[in-house]
Amino acid sequence: MVTLAIFVIKTLQDFIIRGEMNMKYNAEIPRARYDKFGNREWERLEKDRLGELLYHVHLDILKRYISSSDQVIELGAGAGAGRFTKDIVNMSKSLVTSDLSPVQIEINKRKMEELGLVDKVQDFKILDISNLEGIPDNTYDVAVCIGGPINYLFDKEESAINEMLRVLKSQGKLILGSLSLVGALTYYLDGVIYEKGMFGIDATEWIFTTGIQDEEHYPVENKHYVHMMTSKDLDALFQGKPVKILEKSSAGLFMHSQEETLTRAKQDSEFWELLIRKEIEFTKLPGTLDCGMNIIYVVEKL
Ligand SMILES: C[S@@+](CC[C@H](N)C(=O)[O-])C[C@H]1O[C@@H](n2cnc3c(N)ncnc32)[C@H](O)[C@@H]1O
Repeated sequence: MVTLAIFVIKTLQDFIIRGEMNMKYNAEIPRARYDKFGNREWERLEKDRLGELLYHVHLDILKRYISSSDQVIELGAGAGAGRFTKDIVNMSKSLVTSDLSPVQIEINKRKMEELGLVDKVQDFKILDISNLEGIPDNTYDVAVCIGGPINYLFDKEESAINEMLRVLKSQGKLILGSLSLVGALTYYLDGVIYEKGMFGIDATEWIFTTGIQDEEHYPVENKHYVHMMTSKDLDALFQGKPVKILEKSSAGLFMHSQEETLTRAKQDSEFWELLIRKEIEFTKLPGTLDCGMNIIYVVEKL
């Protein structure tokens, strides 16, 4: 009996996973979304305390893996329009920054002009991570793709990983950040309850099981179609690839304290400084990997 039950569960899981493969990447959806977003993304990591937590965890990782002799490419940089571009450009030997959205990359460029950094950026490109044709193999020491561009890729997730690894030199590093399914469901549970009222329990089960918010199963009003990931999904993406995983981190752990408490915490500068330090430290504990808003993997190309 137990064996039969396990067989049924496995078959169901396989079915769900095959369903996932049916999702087709459509570049128009994220492009239109971020073109429309315009300037809002520049403020993303500053406008609230969660954004600040995310910023500090990512910055710490960037500082530890990028050195002044590195040639770096930033992919899906656009939004947060240059929030990390301005930092990476000062850590590296050279930086090409890029995004799928022409509007975001234009804002990025404008921001770099305002900051007097535009001449330090080697190029501003419109690039889709699913296909980096035009960029030769083995070009960069570090590729940075953080804040969730990978979550829009659906059936092209693996192509994107292959492409990002392709443009890296041997021993080059990929810093990849994804939206966390567990973190997002926990943080936005209120909304998930509301959406259960609209779409029903099967759709809710679907999103909990697959992390996929798509038109067919979970037709959210804002058309924000994404595949939120668990660390298991990320492990699977790198499975069998010529890479060594150097680091896994969550980001945004203290978001669970909610904005109001975090805003109060920030009013005490020594407390806030301690909290940021501990956010950086605790996000490296294996048990916290899926619990923040983002999951970050740093891998080395072998
Ligand atoms: C939430 S933003 C993150 C931006 C920035 N890296 C950060 O962490 O602040 C996601 C960005 O990914 C870009 N994006 C989405 N799909 C992409 C794709 N296939 N290739 C390149 N960029 C993509 C979007 O245009 C958007 O600017």
